[in-house]
Amino acid sequence: MGVLLEVKNLTKKFGGLTAVNDFSFEINRGEFIGLIGPNGAGKTTIFNLISGMEKPTSGSIHFDGIDISGKLPFRIVNLGIARTFQLVRSFKFLSLLDNVQVSCLSKRGKAASKTIGTEAYASSILRSVGLIDKASVPPIVLPHGDLRKLQIAKAIGSNPELLLLDEPFSGLSYEEQVGITDLIKKLHSEGVTIFMTGHVLRELMALVPRVIAMHQGKFIADGPPSEVANNKIVLEAYLGKGEGFA
Ligand SMILES: Nc1ncnc2c1ncn2[C@@H]1O[C@H](COP(=O)(O)OP(=O)(O)OP(=O)(O)O)[C@@H](O)[C@H]1O
Ligand SMILES: [Mg+2]
Repeated sequence: MGVLLEVKNLTKKFGGLTAVNDFSFEINRGEFIGLIGPNGAGKTTIFNLISGMEKPTSGSIHFDGIDISGKLPFRIVNLGIARTFQLVRSFKFLSLLDNVQVSCLSKRGKAASKTIGTEAYASSILRSVGLIDKASVPPIVLPHGDLRKLQIAKAIGSNPELLLLDEPFSGLSYEEQVGITDLIKKLHSEGVTIFMTGHVLRELMALVPRVIAMHQGKFIADGPPSEVANNKIVLEAYLGKGEGFA
């Protein structure tokens, strides 16, 4: 095991708003963790800070012992962290295969595809997410569930050790959620450390053995989903906003 990600006293301010407030946690190699919190809690901002899309106001982030606080996103990808976005993003006019090939051009993607070549490597990823039949079409023709799979395919093209999934179930039908769940479980069983957000605990409850909860930028709980769901402060954070876990 060993610590893969160490976040210490992380703070991010946007003007007068503190989106992430003195937040600390550790993730061990091989873990499968959820990050929950009501809308606006700061989950995406934490992912933006880890992936280098935002610079911390203060605090530090270490990945595999390396200080990555404020490093550029491509450097962080090259070290082994990939992410997906809450709102799906793709190269609209490139085929699915080319979309995935772009991320295979990262340092770790190149190393992983060295023996078989980028195209075969990208094809194998599309096959593993169930999109190989659509390799030559552009993403604009895909249903939403397939677009979410493509996000994951692009992220794994860079051969990450840590995969950040921001609301991977958002906007999906039940059947599509099952497909994405199976895919995430498979990636975890293959050794990828998974850290994923969701604002409804039910989605994550069955999936992850550990959940970190936050509210208004602050850490509020860390533990098994059954414990966190019954934590008084967590319940107040959700129920106070008229939302529940059910
Ligand atoms: N670039 C930005 N500029 C100003 N404020 C921002 C910016 N990014 C996020 N915020 C604010 O920071 C807070 C946390 O937002 P964030 O998107 O991280 O929350 P979240 O937990 O991901 O919410 P959701 O569940 O809706 O996805 C919110 O109040 C948001 O409006
Ligand atoms: Mg978010």
